[in-house]
Amino acid sequence: MLPRSVMSSAGTDSLRTRAESGNMRKKPENCIIVIFGAGSDLASRKLFPALFELAARGHLPEHYLIMGTGRAGISTEEFRREVAGKLAKFAPVGPDKTDALEAFIGRLRYVKADFLEPGDYDNLREQLADASSIGACGSNLLFYLAIPPGLASQVVRNLDGAGLGGRQVRCGEWRKIVVEKPYGTNLGTARELNRIIGGVFSEEQVFRIDHYLGKETVQNILVFRFSNGIFEPIWNRHFIVNVSITIAEDFGIRDRGAFYEETGLLRDIFQNHALQLLAAVAMEPPVDFAADSVRDEKAKLLRSIRLFDASEALRSVVTGQYEGYHSEKNVDPGSPVETFAAVKLFVDNWRWKGVPFFIRAGKNLSETMTEITVTFGCPPQNFFGPADSCSYIANQVIFRIQPEETIAVRFGAKRPGEELITDPVFMKFDYSTSFSEKGLTPYHRLLLDAMAGDQMNFIRQDSVEYSWAIVDSIRKSLEGRLPEPYAVHSNGPESLQDLYR
Ligand code: BG6
Repeated sequence: MLPRSVMSSAGTDSLRTRAESGNMRKKPENCIIVIFGAGSDLASRKLFPALFELAARGHLPEHYLIMGTGRAGISTEEFRREVAGKLAKFAPVGPDKTDALEAFIGRLRYVKADFLEPGDYDNLREQLADASSIGACGSNLLFYLAIPPGLASQVVRNLDGAGLGGRQVRCGEWRKIVVEKPYGTNLGTARELNRIIGGVFSEEQVFRIDHYLGKETVQNILVFRFSNGIFEPIWNRHFIVNVSITIAEDFGIRDRGAFYEETGLLRDIFQNHALQLLAAVAMEPPVDFAADSVRDEKAKLLRSIRLFDASEALRSVVTGQYEGYHSEKNVDPGSPVETFAAVKLFVDNWRWKGVPFFIRAGKNLSETMTEITVTFGCPPQNFFGPADSCSYIANQVIFRIQPEETIAVRFGAKRPGEELITDPVFMKFDYSTSFSEKGLTPYHRLLLDAMAGDQMNFIRQDSVEYSWAIVDSIRKSLEGRLPEPYAVHSNGPESLQDLYR
């Protein structure tokens, strides 16, 4: 038998070959992508650049069309010019890509449709029928709802009314719907949206998108936890003393005043991005790595999060609003909307009982970064310093999601010299130096997943409802409490410190 060291290096190649072949995804089948809200900020900044990038890399099917819809009465030619302008701004095209750009622009069509006007959907159906034969695209349809949450159910009803629902699909064809976050505005509206969508599309056809789940570093949390033997045995309340998740941005709401006034940070970032990070870092191992096995565990974890009552919220929730928010465009001068939230929450299950999870997210903070820090307890005896010095060198695993893409392990080491002094040091893995391949951007990956029908990185109906139950309990218990002002580019409101005591 080979010694272990030889076996492991011999095994590396076969592992790499397996992983590479496993990652090779077949091209999606020919289809038409219909974007509702083609003029939205999201479509301009994220969707069209991602679709163009997919096309330029040859990842889109041979025959595809992208049909933009919206209220604007513009022609396909005007729409193409608009999209070309957005690509120039948000996805600068290199000289080598001008042919690809021309080909991509040629695949765009525009149909005027008032989302709330059922009659416009008959026109859309006819245009789709024409497009499917002219472009040889076939009748597979991917609907993408890049629209405010309040409009989604009406669009779905109208699709159904026009015979474009998922349950009306003919044999051998597929229809799928991607729904952007926020999915509803609270538990009640999310349930209602689930009920309406569920009447028109089956759950396998529904892709509730949270672009955080398309990030390499977020997907890597599960790989880190479940492909290594050394972390999982200590990944629990017996060894971990707290977990903290930070989603900080050093910019404000930009030009999304109207959106923020309706949403606020808890619904914009906490309900989805933050709770999904928590689910990834805290969920149980799935029975296998199939989409629903993973999503079962995430749902179970979210369901185990303790809901808040008013007295709990007083101790465990801090909300804030950055100074100057009231002067942002489309913001009410007396607005009580939060642009910052910090929450201490508990997961009531066998693995995590009693371990505090701190989540902090906000706009206009001192820096832009997303990070999860898992902090471990002290050794039973501290030989190298005063008894209370343990937290100074506490062991931590730190997942830096962005802007750097790293994982660091923090531990104590002897400072060189005569004295025995311990300092914290880091062992660091960095995506940019360990791998030469560039990962896919989140929208790039998730669009491909949706076309291929892979639901692993999309949020299931039950999870979305559990997440809303948590956020609703926080919001309800905050009723009557105004967010605390905080200075732009600070760490948030001053009372944040109380949360960690
Ligand atoms: C979006 C939120 O979902 O995520 C924004 O609506 C936020 O408010 C953004 O800025 C952050 O995403 P990323 O990938 O830029 O960190």
